[in-house]
Formats: sequence, structure tokens, C-alpha cells
Amino acid sequence: MTKVITYGTYDMLHYGHIRLLERAKALGDYLIVGVTSDDYDKTRGKINNRQSLMERIAAVEATGIADEIIVEEYEGQKIDDIRRFGVDIFTVGSDWVGYFDYLNEFCKVIYLPRTEGVSSSEVRAEKRKLRIGLVGSAVFRTKFINESKYVNGVEIIGVYASHPGDEPEVADLFYTDVYDELLDKVDAVYIISKPEYHYRHTKQALEAGKHVLCESPIAYSREECKGLYDLAAEKKLILMDAIKTAYSTAYERLLLMAKGGRIGKIVSVDAVCTSLRDGISIEGTDLSKKWNSMCGWAPAAMLPVFQIFGTDYKDKIFYTKFQDKEKNIDAFTKVDFVYPSGVATVKVAKGAKAEGELIIAGTKGYIYVPAPWWKTDYFELRYENVEDNKRFFYQLDGEGIRYEIVAFAKAVESGKNMSYVSEEISETIAEVIGDFNARKNMIELL
Ligand code: CTP
Repeated sequence: MTKVITYGTYDMLHYGHIRLLERAKALGDYLIVGVTSDDYDKTRGKINNRQSLMERIAAVEATGIADEIIVEEYEGQKIDDIRRFGVDIFTVGSDWVGYFDYLNEFCKVIYLPRTEGVSSSEVRAEKRKLRIGLVGSAVFRTKFINESKYVNGVEIIGVYASHPGDEPEVADLFYTDVYDELLDKVDAVYIISKPEYHYRHTKQALEAGKHVLCESPIAYSREECKGLYDLAAEKKLILMDAIKTAYSTAYERLLLMAKGGRIGKIVSVDAVCTSLRDGISIEGTDLSKKWNSMCGWAPAAMLPVFQIFGTDYKDKIFYTKFQDKEKNIDAFTKVDFVYPSGVATVKVAKGAKAEGELIIAGTKGYIYVPAPWWKTDYFELRYENVEDNKRFFYQLDGEGIRYEIVAFAKAVESGKNMSYVSEEISETIAEVIGDFNARKNMIELL
């Protein structure tokens, strides 16, 4: 029996795919089709397939041509598969000529002529793109613009801010200082205005029927935040809290391992996020334009705390050193959370520096994520016996922003919320920021 194997993404299965599968099958007696997983596609730069892995598998299955379907998950898997299944022929379309010659060592490699005039990219392009407008002028808007270029099906078209800004990335975009003018032209907005405006900007966008991706915190109180989620649900719109760390594959995996008992019962979470880059402690800096340390860092730092221990903490205390109390700018804040079964600490600072690591301690061992943990591609499981230690690496592109945009675009398209940050966590973040603003349970450092 001659075994043939072929691989592909098979997004929006089309005539070109079917013809390839038929010819692949005709090369032998048994055809194995490898469908690429969403994670693997991410690392190959194919991002935002219209269909999920399950849908793509179902479509290949429905052709009735494949004898067996497998999932392709990692670099180097092809060699493993060829050996494992005793494959005689590897085949793909002629768009890959030369690329897989190295497999000749293991089996015969055949490139089949590609069917002219059709591709998944074209089928996807027939759908209208999601038009996104940017709200605000925070420095990281340029990252968002650059990252959006990797995502199929979205385009950034304009900016609403008090000043146009001089970054080259925004030069070609439509600019307005009238919010309604931007809302008129877009399907969705990404809000990066100063945190005190998030609530108003989000509300106005939702009322105008636009989807919203908003930097955290979305509001300054649980009630306001909940009100916005309710409004979004009522209007059948997507509202997503933008915390890019949630979309890092390594972060997702370490969370699963922590929850899956790999380090025993969890007793503490310590998350540190600091940066001096914003220069809030430099004399003469205009602090009215700056985010404070709490808004700038605490949403990301609190994410692992709430995702591991939940949001029902028994108590919390803030220890804060203010840079400018009147303007609510903290140079450094430490928040201690107390839970029935453990404790958590987040330390955030824009006017102090510390090691930006994440440590999750358990009864059997701990998870160590080196700085800067919030954009990590690497972590370690560490035990008493160092020989048991394990290291994990997962490719992270674009600090997670790219995958966050994909989740947002997919949510808008499907009408289902696909956020990795739950509504409850988003509301609890707003609550904590609100309590900080109200100086509730705060010890001030001099
Ligand atoms: N293929 C083909 N003829 C086409 C399109 C694809 O023979 N018109 C083949 C590819 O060469 C590959 C397989 O079908 O062996 C799966 O291709 P895939 O990358 O999933 O689809 P494309 O349509 O090429 O996707 P994209 O436009 O995203 O590159």
C-alpha cells in the first residue's frame, strides 16, 4: 500500500484545495491530510483564518477524499509523521517548490501544480474588512497600527485625538478632533485615551453602534464597567478589555499548568511590573498627560491573580508612594490581596524599578517567569529537586497584540465574545482602580 501525506490550512475550503486532495490521493492508496492548528498557523504568520481548526477539519472530512486527518502542531512534525505513519510520498502544491526537498531523505517529495486563480486569501478578501478607528494618542498606538498589518480582515482607517500626532504610522490615516466624525466612519474603535476618558469614549461608541476594544481599565468602578458590558450586550456589540498579556501563548500555558496542579495547591502569586521609560519622576514632566502606575500596569499585573485565585478576594491593602497626589500619579504601588486559600501581591511602578517577574508558588513547586513576564515566551516549572525542573518556550509575536486583534475581529464577525479577559475580571479591575482612586485601605509611603 502506498501512503501519501499532504498538509495545509484549508481555510474556507475551495476548488483549488479539492483538486489538490484528489490528485494527492491518486498518487497512492491511502491519503493522510495534516490540517494546521491555529497555534501553529500563528507562528507561520498566517493569522486570523476565517475558520477554526474544527471547522477546517470538518470541511476536509466532508470532501470524503482523505482516509485520515491529523493536526499539524509544531515545526518538525512532518518528519515525525512520515516516520510514524510509514509514509511513501509527501506532496503539496507548486507554491512550495523546493521548500520541502529536505524530506527527500525520508520519502518521495512531489510538488503538484497549483490550481490557478483561487486561494484562501482571495476568498477571505471578498469579505469587507473590519474598519477600526483609534481613540487617543498614547505612545503604544503605533504598535497597534503595526501589529494590525499582520491580521487578515482588519484595517485601521482613522484617529480621533486632540492633536494629529507626528508618528509616521498615523500620517496616512484620517484624523479628526471630533469623536462623532470618527465613529461615523468605522465599525469599531480601539480606545487608548487617558483612563479617565475610557468610560465616556466606550459609552459613546457603543451608543453609536460600534464595537469596542478598550485598554484596561475600561472604567473607574465596577458599576460603570458593568453598565458598559450590559449596554454592549443589549446592542449586540462586542466590548473587549485590551490586556495583551492574556494573548501570549506562554502565559496561557503556564496558567493551565498552574491550574492543572503541576505545582500542587497554589498559595501565592507575586507579579511585578515596572518601567521608568515614561519619565514621570523626571523634573518638569507634564504629568497631566501621563497614565499613573496603577492604570498603566496594574490591570496586567492583576490578571494572573484573578485568573488563578478568582475575583472574590477577602481583603486588599494598597501601599502607595505618590509622585503627585493631586494629579493621582503614583510612583509606586503595592497591592496585597488576601484569599481564603492564599495571598497575592502586585507591585507596579513608573517611578521606581524592580525585577519584572511573576512567581506562582504552590505546595509542590513554583512557576517562575523571568522579566518582562507580561510579554513572555518562556517560563520554568521549578521543584525542590532541580532535576525535576522543566523549561517551556512558546513563540510570541508582537507582544500578544496581534492575537488580541484576531480575537477581537473574530468576536465581531461571529457575534460571540472571544475575549481572554472575562467580564468579571474586567469589572474587578475597574473596582480595584476605583478603590485606589478613593484611597480605600491605603497606606501612604512618604
Ligand atoms: N492549493 C492548490 N491550489 C490552490 C490553492 C491551494 O493546489 N489554488 C494547495 C496548496 O499548494 C497546498 C494546499 O492546497 O498544498 C493547501 O493550501 P492552503 O495554504 O491551505 O491554501 P491557500 O489557498 O494557498 O491559502 P492562502 O491563500 O492563505 O495562502
